[in-house]
Amino acid sequence: MTEQKQFRAIKGTRDILPPDSTLWNWFEQSARDVFESYNFREIRLPIFEETSLFARSVGGETDIVSKEMYSFPDRSTSSDATADAGDLISLRPEATASTMRAYIEHGMHALPGNVKLYYMGPMFRRERPQKGRYRQFYQIGAEVLGQSDAPAIDAEVIEMLVTFFSRVGLTRTTLYINSIGDKNCRPQYVELLRAELRKVKDQLGADSQRRIETNPLRVLDSKIPQEQEIIAKLPKISEHLCDACREHFAKLKEELKLRGVNFQDNWRLVRGLDYYTRTTFEVIAEGLGSQNAVCGGGRYDGLVELLGGPPTKGIGFAIGTDRAILSIQESGNLPKLPGLDVFVAWMGLETYATAVGLTKKLREAGLSVELPGEEMKFKKSLNLADKLGARYALIIGSDEVATGRFTLKRLADADQKKLSEYELLEYLESERRGTRG
Ligand code: HAM
Repeated sequence: MTEQKQFRAIKGTRDILPPDSTLWNWFEQSARDVFESYNFREIRLPIFEETSLFARSVGGETDIVSKEMYSFPDRSTSSDATADAGDLISLRPEATASTMRAYIEHGMHALPGNVKLYYMGPMFRRERPQKGRYRQFYQIGAEVLGQSDAPAIDAEVIEMLVTFFSRVGLTRTTLYINSIGDKNCRPQYVELLRAELRKVKDQLGADSQRRIETNPLRVLDSKIPQEQEIIAKLPKISEHLCDACREHFAKLKEELKLRGVNFQDNWRLVRGLDYYTRTTFEVIAEGLGSQNAVCGGGRYDGLVELLGGPPTKGIGFAIGTDRAILSIQESGNLPKLPGLDVFVAWMGLETYATAVGLTKKLREAGLSVELPGEEMKFKKSLNLADKLGARYALIIGSDEVATGRFTLKRLADADQKKLSEYELLEYLESERRGTRG
């Protein structure tokens, strides 16, 4: 006999099973509620795009684009494997690039006011899997596009993020902010940094040595213990910002204080994507080990132009849903989520029609109801109700059908009531309103 292959999810991907999926739905719905209260609307984007879109926006030299993308030739435009780079498509490693592409493609710059969009869904990066780091992971992101780069916009986006985190009980977090300057002041700073790094090159690891030439800012990101003392002595960008960037950053901090948002300055927060200018920010959560960034974002004025669109300012962020939920789970600060409300324990075939009818009415009233399709012994029935975590068992025997009064048993404490159909619906509905708010 040949042995059957046991299929397993591909490394770095995973299944989100119930009851976790209920937690995920609640988390995503809470984001929708909070973001829509800030007048953001959802954009649904494709899962794959032309590879060059990511190369142009995220940056060809970044780890994400140079090492981590799942790219393949698009067979509908090229019949053989000789497709050039223009024909390559990639699973999206992030969604800011797609949002910019959609903004340009649909002429959204002509819309009134700022365009405020949010998205949620899977992203793909071929990273080394570990706790909190997956190859298919999920983000919830938000972007604001328009003509203004007022610090109030940055502050509102950050306030919305913090409001959402506190709504879902993700409270053991720290928000770090920085300004990485713009095209007027950053080039000089990068040169200064490069010159200083060259002086200490032989004390740095291979990655940092390479980055001195390719992207010296990323050296500031290094977590390697031996490099920390050297990095601490490097020139800080905050001392090399032009007047406009300095003022923008100072105003942002004033705005955050006005809105009651706590933050910490972190001059080493440079981010791993190329499109940022001025404001950058990240939220770090406790209890996640090394993969502890639950959100990253920043301003990206000029990105739309870089992709062939009109001059546009932009800012946004993306939350790592997997990590944020992991952090909530580890804190034990879990919400009370809806489960199975009623298990219908019907006994005797003559009660079945009543059970079906009543189940339908309870479901229409918004309750979650389990109706066994086959007759079960009373004891077995209540046992199963218990195991499924039902809050109530609705007992329907021939007596109940005859009198029109049904027994509702609360499984937590075995409290029992006899109720008419009308009373039953009233009772369960008001009880649900109370427990589910
Ligand atoms: P990012 O920092 O690359 O930024 O990703 C944002 C968040 O996605 C991270 O803080 C992390 O929580 C989560 N994340 C990233 N990679 C993984 C992974 N392999 N496994 C699990 N979670 C992960 C961006 O993607 C930008 N597009 C954010 C942005 C939007 N900036 C402006 N607008």
